[in-house]
Amino acid sequence: MGTDKADILSLLRNSRDYVSGQQLCDQFGVSRTAVWKVINQLKEEGYQIESVTRKGYRLLDCPDVLSESEIISRLTTGWAGQKLYYFDETGSTNIDAKRLAEEGAPHGTTVIADRQNQGRGRRGRTWQSPAGSAIYMSIALKPDFAPDKASMLTLVMALSVAEAITDMTGLAASIKWPNDIVVNQKKVCGILTEMSAELDYIHHVVIGVGINVNNPIEDFSEEVQKMATSLKLESGVSVSRAAMVERVLFYFEKNYDTFVIKEDLSDLQEKYQKHLVNLNAEVKVLDPKGEYTGIARGINPTGELLVEKENGEIVSVYAGEVSVRGLYGYV
Ligand code: BTN
Repeated sequence: MGTDKADILSLLRNSRDYVSGQQLCDQFGVSRTAVWKVINQLKEEGYQIESVTRKGYRLLDCPDVLSESEIISRLTTGWAGQKLYYFDETGSTNIDAKRLAEEGAPHGTTVIADRQNQGRGRRGRTWQSPAGSAIYMSIALKPDFAPDKASMLTLVMALSVAEAITDMTGLAASIKWPNDIVVNQKKVCGILTEMSAELDYIHHVVIGVGINVNNPIEDFSEEVQKMATSLKLESGVSVSRAAMVERVLFYFEKNYDTFVIKEDLSDLQEKYQKHLVNLNAEVKVLDPKGEYTGIARGINPTGELLVEKENGEIVSVYAGEVSVRGLYGYV
């Protein structure tokens, strides 16, 4: 049933004119009653569908519905998200994706939720995950490469989210190395990559992405408002979360497939750097051995940040070892 619904939705969305009941029956090999049931379900979910005798059905308005059929009906990928789980509420999509991967779920399996009650951020922090306005998604990967390459996948995802946001909203989405996405100097997306591996073998990698899409200002505490924002707050218009999920999966699949050819970022470096907010800007490196400032000059093929020190020496900074803060505001 899920797929029929997704297919019917996709057909309605892609037709400017009315689509007759008969056409839907013929195309999907289902009865008129089955079509009618699907249309009613869609209406219940909030879609405005006009039905006109002898003409058929026409989609008038798509609300920001995040549901399995809404997402599946939009997917254009070969493997990313082709196995998809959607939950109105879950603990953490990263934990779900990890469990599914352990149970044998295929490469690219994706979990999406409207709300998380145990959303997790990096370094043990929590990730506030209210319902109705953001995207919480995790993709499970089963790569063939060595575990030491996995940290680069976070950068591959950061690039993909930046591309998806720019594509969908026209906003200039930048990457704060290595993996926060910022718009107008405020964070709109965080990425948490987790791996289960032996020394020389990856069982699976889970990349979790939290994007503030249509969040109103009230979703952020006063303290958080200084650092975080949503796409709607910055652009003034709502964005379909399902369409955004599709774009993220589309770009991620493309970039991942490029990444695995050389197992490094050499063919993505240029695109990544175009989005890099710190490029040629002064950064402060909080190295445990001693803080220093320098100018960020981009990344190397393994994803380390190249920082030019005052004496002209270029050092490569590894994300796990240090954190980098710009000198001005959040970025
Ligand atoms: C960060 O601290 O910036 C990373 C935040 C990552 C949040 C996402 S939301 C979907 C997935 N599930 C989680 O519990 N966390 C990640």
